[in-house]
Amino acid sequence: MPDPARRGLLRLLTCGSVDDGKSTLIGRLLHDTGQIMDDTLEGLARDSQRQGGVAAPLDLALLTDGLEAEREQGITIDVAHRYFATARRGFILADTPGHEQYTRNMATAASNSELAVILVDARKGVLAQTRRHGAIAAMLGIRHAVLAVNKMDLVDWEEAAFGRIAAEWAGFADGLGFATMAAIPLCARLGGNIVRREGAAPWYRGPTLLAHLEEVVPEQPSGPMRFPVQWVRRAEPDVRGYCGVVSGGRIAPGDAVMVAGTGRRSRVSRILGPGAEQAEALAGEAVTLYLADEVDLARGDVLAAPDDAPVVADQLAAHLLWLDAEAMLPGRQYLARFGQVWTEARVTAIRHRIDLPTSRPLPARRLEMNEMARCHLALARRVAIDPYAQNRATGAFLLVDRFSHRTVAAGMVEFALRRAGNIQPEALGVDKAARAALVGQKPLVVWFTGLSGAGKSTIARLVEQLLHRQGRHTYSLDGDNLRHGLNSDLGFTDEDRVENIRRVGEVARLFVDAGLIVMCSFISPFRAERLIVREMLGPGEFLEVFVDAPLAECMRRDPKGLYAKAARGEIANFTGISSPYQPPEAPELRLDTAALTPEAAAELVVQRVMAMMAEASSQNKV
Ligand code: ADX
Repeated sequence: MPDPARRGLLRLLTCGSVDDGKSTLIGRLLHDTGQIMDDTLEGLARDSQRQGGVAAPLDLALLTDGLEAEREQGITIDVAHRYFATARRGFILADTPGHEQYTRNMATAASNSELAVILVDARKGVLAQTRRHGAIAAMLGIRHAVLAVNKMDLVDWEEAAFGRIAAEWAGFADGLGFATMAAIPLCARLGGNIVRREGAAPWYRGPTLLAHLEEVVPEQPSGPMRFPVQWVRRAEPDVRGYCGVVSGGRIAPGDAVMVAGTGRRSRVSRILGPGAEQAEALAGEAVTLYLADEVDLARGDVLAAPDDAPVVADQLAAHLLWLDAEAMLPGRQYLARFGQVWTEARVTAIRHRIDLPTSRPLPARRLEMNEMARCHLALARRVAIDPYAQNRATGAFLLVDRFSHRTVAAGMVEFALRRAGNIQPEALGVDKAARAALVGQKPLVVWFTGLSGAGKSTIARLVEQLLHRQGRHTYSLDGDNLRHGLNSDLGFTDEDRVENIRRVGEVARLFVDAGLIVMCSFISPFRAERLIVREMLGPGEFLEVFVDAPLAECMRRDPKGLYAKAARGEIANFTGISSPYQPPEAPELRLDTAALTPEAAAELVVQRVMAMMAEASSQNKV
């Protein structure tokens, strides 16, 4: 029989550095509760047996599914889960190694945790890092924090020393909205106040760390029912089971459900838990649902209570915790993962950065590693979301770099922005195909990229002349020209270049829509933005031409005298000198300007354009 006084599992994480005694504290907790250091799987299995086989295996699914998905994407997250238990409850402790990836690992651990143990050294007290850890834990929805004031033996268990630190902690943590935020004086090395009471500190009347951890009552996950479908099981023909973890509320056979973002409704006919039929399933439980009607669900669909379904949106306000060494630039495209759904995402605006130690808002144009900000995002498709404060599953997302596949940010939804829903694209009647047919050509963009002085504009001008002579309708967009008009508000910082290319891409797309062949000559130094423009256009509409000239050659030519100025330090962020250029990896055409005259290069481009047009007409696209 399970012990009636027994409490449910508690998920916790520890924050702090090796110097603060984190590993010692974890070792102590495991050792003094009589655990061998084992991994989560065995520990959970054992705890599940003790409890009569309920609940625990479900948590396991939660853990392993997340890791599995990360692995699929080639993302490795370094969090070890340690399991230990007392007569009163089992604990899963997420142990995050404290190297440079620390914030990333901590964020991962925190998003699954109910309590954070934040360590400080009694000799040093509350540091900026302590405040950062507290703020991140709070932002990630942790409701219970413990300040473990370690190494008390080194300040002779002095009451006043502890009092000062505890008061400072209380003053700070109070503003973060924790439900509990105890401070406990302890000594991990000798075990004082961890499991056994410390005789040297009779003035301390609070609980030991373990006693406190045994008593904390995490809020029961509540809120409306959410069931993101993780995979579809087709065990018998015509019968589909939907597997996933209930991430909010409860669900029982007979309950009405709706597929978020669609009008489709049904009722739950059966709930299958691990090995057995269930009369209900609560938040956190991994189950298979069967529905009464044929509603064709796919991985990533969210089943919800029909009277309280999540918003389906493609624009949202969210907190972003930036985790990558390469800064976040508004306008750049990333991949976003909402549960099982992947989509392209762009940060359209940084509302403000949040100074983590003080929680104060600060203005920002970019986000550096370990910084947090309130942002607006635009997604390429609509996804079902809830505010993170209401649901940590449907309210959380990750951003992933499109090239390196690194996880670059953890996101927490604040609310959906409805703006997008209010702007209906005008149906104009005359469309791109009609315009293209009238002028008898396949519209497309010829995108010249390369260093300043490589010869982009020269070659583009020749290409336009050749095409014009053949009766083609053309237009040219050029960095030097557009920067005097449309983009006169932009400079040469990374973020301004991203915005420069985004605008140019939009303009080029309009010209393509108008039926024209558009020459674009821009340094466009970043792969990510060139890819965005490519993706704004249809297949066969983007011809990337790499005007390849060695930097030394461009410096020698220096037609505008800019390299000389840059070398004298008179121009900041000069491409090739003090700002990077990422050469295209697979351009449609590479022009070796050392070996080709501009005329010969232009001829090659025209041949390529004609080939693309011929291909389009053979496929009947014109
Ligand atoms: S891009 O990087 O944003 O694509 P763009 O092609 O529009 O640049 O503009 C580049 C032109 O601006 C160069 O040909 C040069 O004449 C001028 N220029 C002025 N300052 C810079 C700079 N810091 N880096 C590069 N080009 C500069």
